[in-house]
Parts: sequence; C-alpha cells; structure tokens
Amino acid sequence: MKAIHSAAQVNETSAFAATGAKQAPPIHDSGPGTGKTTANWMPYHIPISLLTEKAFADIARGRIPNFQRLCRQLLKTIDPAQESFSALQFLDALVQHSFHDPADIRRVLRHPDSSHVLVHNEYLKVILIRWEPGQASNLHGHATGGCVFKVLHGTVEESRYAANAPEKQLARNTYFAGNMAYIDDRMGFHVVRNVGTEPAVTMHLYTPGGKKRG
Ligand SMILES: [Fe+2]
Repeated sequence: MKAIHSAAQVNETSAFAATGAKQAPPIHDSGPGTGKTTANWMPYHIPISLLTEKAFADIARGRIPNFQRLCRQLLKTIDPAQESFSALQFLDALVQHSFHDPADIRRVLRHPDSSHVLVHNEYLKVILIRWEPGQASNLHGHATGGCVFKVLHGTVEESRYAANAPEKQLARNTYFAGNMAYIDDRMGFHVVRNVGTEPAVTMHLYTPGGKKRG
C-alpha cells in the first residue's frame, strides 16, 4: 500500500520507532520452585516494567500524565493463552479513562515530544500523540488485532478508505474529546487529522504489541 502524504503529516508507525525508548529486559516466571517471583496479577511473560523507560521517566518527572494505572488495566485484559487478540478488548478500560485534571493536558501540550510510547511489549502497544492543527497521519492500515483510539483533547477527523481501493472513501467521522473508535484492515485503511484550531491529543492501543519476546 502506498501511503498518501500531506504537508503536515504524522506517521503513527514511525512515531513508535522515533522515540528510541528502551525497555528493561522482561522478567519471566520460570515456574514453581525456581525462587523467582512475578506479581500475582501478571500473566506469564509480561514484562514487570510495563511502561517504557522514557514514559516512566516522564511520568516520574511530571512531564506527562500518570497513565500507569490505565496501562495496567489494559494489560489485565490480556491472557497470553487466548487464541486471538483484538484491541476491542481494551474498550471497557479505555472508556473509563479521561483527563480529569487540566494540568494533565498542559503537560502533553508543553512537552517537546509530540508522541510518547507508553507501553511496548509482545502483547500491547500504547502510544500518545499530540497533533497540531491541520496535522494528519499518512494513509495506513492496522492488521491483526486492529487499533482502538480515543480522543483525549481537541477534535480529530478520521477518513476511511477501502483497503484494496484507497481512492474510494468509505466514511468520514469527526471525534471529540471522549470519543473512541476501532479499525482493522477488514474495515479499511484510515487517515487521522486534527481539524480543530488547537492541538489535539489521542491515545492509540494495539494488540498484539509487535515486540518479540526478550
Ligand atoms: Fe491508525
């Protein structure tokens, strides 16, 4: 699929790599009798250091909101033994989350980075993106597991196109703070754009997370 580029473009996928966030090596539960311990709520093979090092440091310094509780709730929905993964399983946890403190928005708006990878492991990837007015993603799809995103601030427009005929627009919807949407390749590809007059902030959730087990 050839991406459609615009002058002011945000690439969700490259945003992941651009952070350079490192992650502590995962800790595995090696089974009974090994003397190793794993927090009892965690499924096997989930890294105990759930947040990326960069996200953890930014939260500790008050530079981004504390998403740790939300990320743990998202992780709890995952059973590594389940046969398939879908970002839809995050909806319940995500619907309950919103910015309650205006200071949280200010933290994201003032941060020099426009995207933050909060979690990136084998099962889950969570990314926070700030979009300047008029800024848009490339045209892209989400394969296995799809993507759920939620608008935390501002107004974004999502345009959907047929995956096998990107010139064919299927839908165009406007989302405001608190709105969520799901998409995968069976539903089409999409472009996300900030159509407001102020920066917008969105959170994007993916499963599986795409990171190989360490
Ligand atoms: Fe997307």
